[in-house]
Amino acid sequence: MDAATPLPTSAHQSTAPETVAVRPLLLKPQYMNGLSERLLVSHYVNNYGGALRRLNAIRTRLAGVDWARAPVFEINGLKREELIAAGSVILHEIYFDSLGGRGNDPPTGREQPAAELAQALERDFGSVAAWRAEFTGMAKALGGGSGWAILAWSGRLGRLVNHWAADHAHALAGATPILALDMYEHAYHLDFGAKAAAYVDQAMANLNWARIGARYRLAIGEKANEDELFLPYGSPAQEEARISVEELKAALEHDDARRPVLLDVCLAKDLPRRTDMLAGATMHAPEALPRWAETLPRDRPIAVYCIAGFQISGNAVTELRRRGYDARALSGGITAWHAIGGATVPMDTSTYEAASNAA
Ligand SMILES: [Fe+2]
Repeated sequence: MDAATPLPTSAHQSTAPETVAVRPLLLKPQYMNGLSERLLVSHYVNNYGGALRRLNAIRTRLAGVDWARAPVFEINGLKREELIAAGSVILHEIYFDSLGGRGNDPPTGREQPAAELAQALERDFGSVAAWRAEFTGMAKALGGGSGWAILAWSGRLGRLVNHWAADHAHALAGATPILALDMYEHAYHLDFGAKAAAYVDQAMANLNWARIGARYRLAIGEKANEDELFLPYGSPAQEEARISVEELKAALEHDDARRPVLLDVCLAKDLPRRTDMLAGATMHAPEALPRWAETLPRDRPIAVYCIAGFQISGNAVTELRRRGYDARALSGGITAWHAIGGATVPMDTSTYEAASNAA
């Protein structure tokens, strides 16, 4: 993979060429270091998801424009909004990818850049500490306003650069963002109120340097083990064992015989984090799989989802496929489904196995 190749998300990036597919969360929102699940999920679903839905709607509208006859105000408006929405989508993906722990472990705040990126930061800023002081100072200076603090690789300047961005469409020409810190109020107000500086310090204690380092390697044209680093922890490694939310949405429009059977797997301790589910799904305890698996049809595709598409659905799909079922895990889980604006119904636990007889 070179610098121009999209990072992996799913076996199938989209259902139609004009659709920009959602990128699943790589961070575990319930296991962060001083950033709440409520804040992160709201930000991902409403602000990132909102930009993605807006971008896809604009692209659909652009596909119908008669470029020779459309009024200039219409062309100007659509192209301006397309650039803003696309910038928001891309910067939010870099932001969320740059946060989170390793596997199931929360961020410690003690992680440091790997050797190659650390050496580049020393080369271009004097030291990692000097880079951090400039980056956080730049971010805190945006508090009370809005925009992005960005660390980017500039091939033309031949160095890493810290640059501010006044909005989603503001960038250093030709540079590749490595790390983007969201300084819009929606990124911190739920947890920190107006204390933007406290948010900056806490976000820095949640950085995933392995993924930031991988972005740097890709930016300078090197390999980066990205297939592993940019897949949600615990999701199936084989592409054929995953299904994207866009693919699922299309598949659910098939007739009954071809529609996937929908399974919602959730740990009992995680049920209080839930309020809704996909229409037509049945909820199950993952530890009761040996029992409920026997009731599944063998002649239908099966889509399994959990909250965010990590190991709960991943492990269930691995076991169902071992038993011969055509099962796939929903990339990004119901959280990604929310982000594309997918419809849901109130959660129904009537099929959920009680803890006493789940095993
Ligand atoms: Fe944001």
